[in-house]
Amino acid sequence: IWTVNNFEGNIESFPQIQEAAKILKDNEVVAFPTETVYGLGANALSDEAVAKIFEAKGRPSDNPLIVHIATKDQLTNIAVDIPDMVQTLVTHFWPGPLTLVLKKKDQSVGEKVTAGLETVAVRMPDHPIALALLKAADLPLAAPSANLSGKPSPTSAKHVIDDLEGRIAGIIDGGATGVGLESTVLDCTEKIPVILRPGGVTKEQLEEVIGEVRLDRALLVEGQAPKSPGMKYIHYAPIAPLVIVEGSPQFIQTLVDKKTEEGLRVGVLTTEENKHYYKADAVLDCGMRSDLQSVASKLYDVLRTFDMTNVDFIYSEWFPQVGVGQAIMNRLLKAAGNQVISE
Ligand code: TXA
Ligand code: MG
Repeated sequence: IWTVNNFEGNIESFPQIQEAAKILKDNEVVAFPTETVYGLGANALSDEAVAKIFEAKGRPSDNPLIVHIATKDQLTNIAVDIPDMVQTLVTHFWPGPLTLVLKKKDQSVGEKVTAGLETVAVRMPDHPIALALLKAADLPLAAPSANLSGKPSPTSAKHVIDDLEGRIAGIIDGGATGVGLESTVLDCTEKIPVILRPGGVTKEQLEEVIGEVRLDRALLVEGQAPKSPGMKYIHYAPIAPLVIVEGSPQFIQTLVDKKTEEGLRVGVLTTEENKHYYKADAVLDCGMRSDLQSVASKLYDVLRTFDMTNVDFIYSEWFPQVGVGQAIMNRLLKAAGNQVISE
């Protein structure tokens, strides 16, 4: 574990980053912070290195990885047939939480990265440590979130250690991540681009710069096979069953009381505004409802904290699906296996 505090791009003063880069060049895997969540990086040009990511995470091999790059111009080393709107997207949102799915360039990244697909997902992260590491390694890095497959993504080095200690060559601890949810995955191989995974950049922000953007049907209709392979798995789930409630705090409290009478220990996932309404075994707030970004950045930590409270059952409040609320509800619904109760 290398701890890096107050890094502002001055790599000479941080030999830890050079050391981590060397390990990546040796085709080992290293976890590092990005502005969204912690990533588990490996040399994207080496199938041997990439295989270690799948092994460490216990990730199904049909789920492709995102390739991270240090500069915008590296995109053309990895993708071909790049439509004009991509230039606009890159100008507005890179570095940042937007992943672009494009046609893969032959002989670029290894087969394992893309799970055999003809497309490749690419992003330039907006985090000084991630960018310095990419530059020092001088490689494109394949990097999924640095959690065990099925667990909430890690937003602190502690989460990574809890999941992966002993399974990876190193971790750069750069403190808590900012956005807190993963990048938006946008399929740019269609005439009208399609959001395959809502994330840090919202649909509204995308439409402001490139016009119409669609949401993958699978995100709207239950039971549709998603085009982004990663979206079909149960994900982000705490150990106790989670149900999302579309209703008032008073209604949620009646549900809690029923479970409590049955002898169960009950948790409530709420917000600072509403937490005083509840009496339950664990009442955890996830930021401010009036500031959905604060909810995004705390969500995964709160889901992991429920695992330490010994509750048998969790009710969560509902969030409006606007702006980053779209990504919040996407992750919550997955964590809940789509279980919803309406008042
Ligand atoms: O914010 C993020 O994107 C983080 C940080 C570490 O950069 N990474 C991340 O990676 O969330 P991961 O592997 O957990 O999620 C990648 C998502 C999956 O849903 C995967 O199926 C999708 O991107 N994906 C990757 N390549 C794809 C492709 N060629 N076509 C469609 N979806 C793809
Ligand atoms: Mg992930």
